[in-house]
Amino acid sequence: MSPSEALSAGPSAATPPRDVSDVMDAPASSAWAQLRWVGGYYRPYLWQLLGASLLTAVTSLLALPIPLLIRGILDRAIPAHDERLLAELIGGIVVLHVLGAVSGIADSLTATWITKRIRIDIQKSLYEHLQRMPLAFFSKNHTGKILTRVMLDVGNLGSLLPTQSLGLIKSAVTAFSVLAVLLKINPHLTLMIAGTAPVLLLVHNIFRGRIFRASLSLKKHQEKLTTLLQEDLKGSLLTQSFGTEDFRRSYAVKAIIQAETANRRVLVKSAYATASGVVLTIAYTLVLWGYGGHQVIESAMTLGTLVAFGTYIGRIDGPVKAMVASNIGISNSLASAHRLLSTLAVTSPIRSIPGSRPLRITRGEIAFRDVAFSYGSGRPLYDRLNLTLPGHQVSAIVGKTGVGKTSLLYLIPRLYDVASGSITIDDQDVTEVELSSLRTNVAVVHQDTFLFNTTVRENLLLGKTGISDAFLIEICQRVGIHADIVNLPNGYDTEVAENGVNLSGGQRQRLSLARALLSQAPVILLDEFTSALDSVTEKRFHVDLRSLFAGRTVVIITHNKSTLELADHVFQLSVEGGSVVASRIDRDEGKRIVTETELEQTGNLLDDLAVSSKAESPC
Ligand SMILES: Nc1ncnc2c1ncn2[C@@H]1O[C@H](COP(=O)(O)OP(=O)(O)OP(=O)(O)O)[C@@H](O)[C@H]1O
Ligand SMILES: [Mg+2]
Repeated sequence: MSPSEALSAGPSAATPPRDVSDVMDAPASSAWAQLRWVGGYYRPYLWQLLGASLLTAVTSLLALPIPLLIRGILDRAIPAHDERLLAELIGGIVVLHVLGAVSGIADSLTATWITKRIRIDIQKSLYEHLQRMPLAFFSKNHTGKILTRVMLDVGNLGSLLPTQSLGLIKSAVTAFSVLAVLLKINPHLTLMIAGTAPVLLLVHNIFRGRIFRASLSLKKHQEKLTTLLQEDLKGSLLTQSFGTEDFRRSYAVKAIIQAETANRRVLVKSAYATASGVVLTIAYTLVLWGYGGHQVIESAMTLGTLVAFGTYIGRIDGPVKAMVASNIGISNSLASAHRLLSTLAVTSPIRSIPGSRPLRITRGEIAFRDVAFSYGSGRPLYDRLNLTLPGHQVSAIVGKTGVGKTSLLYLIPRLYDVASGSITIDDQDVTEVELSSLRTNVAVVHQDTFLFNTTVRENLLLGKTGISDAFLIEICQRVGIHADIVNLPNGYDTEVAENGVNLSGGQRQRLSLARALLSQAPVILLDEFTSALDSVTEKRFHVDLRSLFAGRTVVIITHNKSTLELADHVFQLSVEGGSVVASRIDRDEGKRIVTETELEQTGNLLDDLAVSSKAESPC
């Protein structure tokens, strides 16, 4: 299994897959599971990693003979006044430094390249995983929380990625090779110094768990802050309209202080952990200069050997402290790996079942049979809803605010799944057909129009290829938006600002209608697609819409009397005996409700609904 598959399939080895009804805070995964998960991403780059590790080892080994050459200078060249030997030894030192620098650069370049690739792979598969999450996941987890994981946590994996983990190899190679040389020079002194190392490991183990927990808490606070900032930026229209800047600022300041306090906690613990390296420094200083100095006085060791020894110890000191620093970084990175693993452990229940076939639409009839559905663990919205929407015709759905009209549309393309019962399109259960084919056959215009921060053209096509400019313009003309588009500064290539704030509500609605029609889906679901239009503007493109709707199954949800003129049938959702039921208003099956009386009747119904909604409203 490739790492991306492993990731998208969820970290089965680490934590059992959880349903989306869970939030993203999973029970703790083990450090081993976290390391194994990141390790999976190293696999495609094994050869490059091997090369980088070799270069790392070579870089540290090249520095190894330098203290011995210094010893040669002190003990042989200088006492013997041998200028030639002195020059040779200095030359040797220079060559080793140059070779070390070259190999170090090659090593860094390879490691940064692999790190870049691994980061891309992780971000890509995390993004793909999130894309597969159903709407329920996004209702339960705020965008700010998800964004923190995608951006901050992946960025925080640093110590587990090659640029830093190869540094750990370098430190280990240096430390062990230096120890080997020291053992050869003076085994007794070496063993005495090595005996001080476990003290450091012990101190560090204490800090590791604390830093892991402090890092987790920091990330939670950062998540909260991102969520708050994101909401504040998006809600600036509301904040400014109501002049509630101070009120919102107090929330933001509190979150900033909490995040900074959590950050300080990590820094303080890391500083203590780093400072504990002094235990080693004190221990080897006492042993080296106390015991070693005594040996030189006793003539048991030459001064050159002691200086070489001291230089080697200096070489170990850096790597050992680097290993300690890596330990701190690793605790921090493991906290991020844990959070990413818990996000990936959430799997989507809405997916194609193995061996499912593509949806084939012929008649285009949509049937709800005994459908039960609820958004969460609360009271079901529908408990036995039955409704048949005739194929290749336009059905309107009316009903009081909050009765469940939008939810009904969501169930058709499986934006949510039914709890029991079935929804079929031409007798094919939507849960049994290939999900991608279901979604390409059913186009939705949502009640809340969403536009991407890109050009008008890209917003209309949404990546669909093979659509000619002529067809694009024709559709836009027929939904009455072409003239507005050509009046924009760059016509179809005008950038739409974030969520279309540079367009009016009615323009956004017509753009999203054109988008659905361009998709050429045989089933089109329109949720209040005319709510932002005045009735004159709306009626102007009714004729065109009728011809565009011909041969398709169209479901319209509306509170507008004039939009009802487009419908062949009208269904009402209402609550009877505590349950939502659907009833057909036009009794004349198959006949378009164009007669004045029928329109009148349906219009009256909308008026009644409006009156009863007003009466129930607390204001
Ligand atoms: N994501 C959600 N999570 C939980 N409850 C929800 C969610 N979306 C809608 N609801 C609830 O489900 C019920 C039906 O909502 P729905 O949006 O389907 O109503 P509607 O008939 O389309 O109303 P309107 O005419 O105002 O658009 C409402 O009571 C609403 O509070
Ligand atoms: Mg609605």
